[in-house]
Amino acid sequence: MSRQQPAAVMVLAAGAGTRMNSAMPKVLHGIAGRTLLHHALVAAEGLSPSRTVVVVRHERDAVAAHVRETAPDALIADQDDVPGTGRAVYCGLATLDATAIAAVVANGSRTGAEALDARAEGAIIVTSGDVPLVTAELLGAMLDEHESQGNAVTILTARVPEPVGYGRIVRGADGDVLRIVESKDASDAELAIDEINAGIYAFDAAGLRAALAGVGRDNAQREMYLTDVVEIAREAGGRVGAFIAPDAHDVEGVNDRVQLAEAGRRLNRRIVERWMRAGVTIVDPDTTWIDADVTIAPDVTIEPGTQLKGTTVVASGAVIGPDSTLTDVEVGAGASVVRTHGSLAVIGAGANVGPFSYLRPGTILGSDGKIGAFVETKNVDLGAGVKVPHLSYVGDATVGEGTNVGAATVFVNYDGVHKNHTTVGAHVRIGSDNTLIAPVTIGDGAYTGAGAIIRRDVPAGALALNSVAQQNVDGWVERRRPGTPSAAAARAAARHEESPLSAGAHEERAAAVAKNEGES
Ligand code: UD1
Ligand code: CA
Repeated sequence: MSRQQPAAVMVLAAGAGTRMNSAMPKVLHGIAGRTLLHHALVAAEGLSPSRTVVVVRHERDAVAAHVRETAPDALIADQDDVPGTGRAVYCGLATLDATAIAAVVANGSRTGAEALDARAEGAIIVTSGDVPLVTAELLGAMLDEHESQGNAVTILTARVPEPVGYGRIVRGADGDVLRIVESKDASDAELAIDEINAGIYAFDAAGLRAALAGVGRDNAQREMYLTDVVEIAREAGGRVGAFIAPDAHDVEGVNDRVQLAEAGRRLNRRIVERWMRAGVTIVDPDTTWIDADVTIAPDVTIEPGTQLKGTTVVASGAVIGPDSTLTDVEVGAGASVVRTHGSLAVIGAGANVGPFSYLRPGTILGSDGKIGAFVETKNVDLGAGVKVPHLSYVGDATVGEGTNVGAATVFVNYDGVHKNHTTVGAHVRIGSDNTLIAPVTIGDGAYTGAGAIIRRDVPAGALALNSVAQQNVDGWVERRRPGTPSAAAARAAARHEESPLSAGAHEERAAAVAKNEGES
């Protein structure tokens, strides 16, 4: 069935969200890497409406800025002092109409009738910024019902076992929807109704405009209720219908942080199952968290305790986890990423990362490279096959292909004022426990000795050494640390050296060490 593009989708986001107990507006709280409002906008835009309008008031500037960022084409409408969802829609519609009329006037049309004709007609979808699990498919199904029935109002409803807090759908003996009653205004009989208003509707624009004019504030909360439009439209002769959501959980609203976590878990389950069906092995769906904007190729394996956040992209055959958190990270085909915390990093195909690695922003690891245990990297471009296997810090550097960085090496990038760059060529061998003091350059194919402190450039092919020559002071331990286990071991070793074939030498040494330990 071909569906009409709705004239507009309106997202209500002006409420305070008091029950969140938060300095941040409710609709800016997030699940699966998007705010609640962003989820609502994504669903709205899935219907390709001619216009999207977001109604704001509480923390207006923060909410409006977020809308401009996530839905730049959306209109922003300000709700005035009058509270309630009805007033919110009234203000949203006023902005929509004013924008349409202004466009006609700008095009040179002059007559008032022409200007009024420019106002939205056809279907207007109204949805809430705090119902994040609703999809474009569900909105579309409601819209199809609205159009096929020729309704003035179609309400998205659900049957729930414990309908606490929601508006109830009051139906007549013939099953027709009569009105919606808010729980604060409901009788005991009405409170027992298990069909609830999801707060999402399709309206005929002209009927909505007319009905809103009749909405008052004569209710328990002294607000203009959007829900009053239902009865008013019906009395004016419009058809009112309901579309019952197949899965009631999809329309659950978020009013407090308990519901926020529940919605987050449900959405995560939905995302994880989508990836499993698409060919991703997820060993433990309950401990795997995947944001909505992550992309994963088939035949990726995700081990338990893994979070893939932001716009992370994982290519085929990669294995991620266990216990890894990757935010905005690109993982190449066949790479392995174990017990790693990474953000804004690129991991090449076939590369190995972890366990216990910390990839900070700007890390690029070439194909078949390695960043190993207890290694921290930041703003580095490591070429193909580069290995930093153990206990190192590599920051602000370019490292050529095939280079090996020895254990416990530190790239000293910060002089206390500036961050400086280190350049290491291809196929270099940095010895263990080196200190490379930036800015410094090490040429292709160079070697550095263990423990070197590199302050000056090393030419290609050179060996750089600067550690102090080793001095052995014979007998120092027995003279200066008498009575210690070390001294006993040294003495035993000296005797063993004198008669290496003596069968008892080993036991004698062990006994001497044990005796000494007892004494100390
Ligand atoms: C509303 C419905 C209720 C429904 C429930 C579903 C009304 C009167 N009641 O109640 O029938 O079961 O949603 O979740 O509509 N908002 C504004 N301006 C306002 C007040 C609210 O924009 O003046 C926005 C909020 O930001 C929110 C949405 O409207 O996104 C819903 O507001 P909320 O106060 O949560 O309404 P409920 O009491 O949940
Ligand atoms: Ca609500």
